[in-house]
Amino acid sequence: MNTATPLIELKGVTKTYRTGELAVEVLHGIDLALYPGEFVAIVGASGSGKSTLMNILGCLDRPTSGSYRFLGEDVSDLGRDELARLRREAFGFVFQSYNLIAAASATENVEVPAVYAGTPPAARHERVRALLATLGLADRLEHRPNQLSGGQQQRTSSPAASSSACRSRARS
Ligand SMILES: Nc1ncnc2c1ncn2[C@@H]1O[C@H](COP(=O)(O)OP(=O)(O)OP(=O)(O)O)[C@@H](O)[C@H]1O
Ligand SMILES: [Mg+2]
Repeated sequence: MNTATPLIELKGVTKTYRTGELAVEVLHGIDLALYPGEFVAIVGASGSGKSTLMNILGCLDRPTSGSYRFLGEDVSDLGRDELARLRREAFGFVFQSYNLIAAASATENVEVPAVYAGTPPAARHERVRALLATLGLADRLEHRPNQLSGGQQQRTSSPAASSSACRSRARS
């Protein structure tokens, strides 16, 4: 049995969406403990609540009831700024709908987390260009999302999620 503090610990998490009169409970009491270094896949039928759960895990949404501890700290105690800091430092997001910024180029989209992390421009440009090149997008750096294919948009959204990789390598 693992006795270390879980990285992520959910207890009795429920989520109910309310639209007008209608209330639909999507998560019915999730207990989950994830430890550092674990590699986990959440699987389930379409509409079963995977994205709902991921939004809660990534601190983009709050549970209707139940608790969420991140490294032992109750996330419900955190304010907007503290949640934003936790998202920036602890999570990498690949959204189901890619959430790329329509008016920004592929390069600018991938740079966004590094901009917020304060990485100097020269370092982040170099790192982002190298990342996009490894994904076969070297000749699409200045394209906006609507000028990219679906797969190219997906490959742009993946490195945009790995802000910590951008940050640490840019600084090394
Ligand atoms: N904002 C919302 N308001 C009301 N109902 C919602 C909302 N978001 C999701 N739902 C409903 O909650 C359920 C779970 O949705 P969710 O997006 O978590 O499913 P999923 O498991 O990620 O599905 P998929 O595999 O299709 O991506 C669905 O039945 C959906 O209709
Ligand atoms: Mg989903």
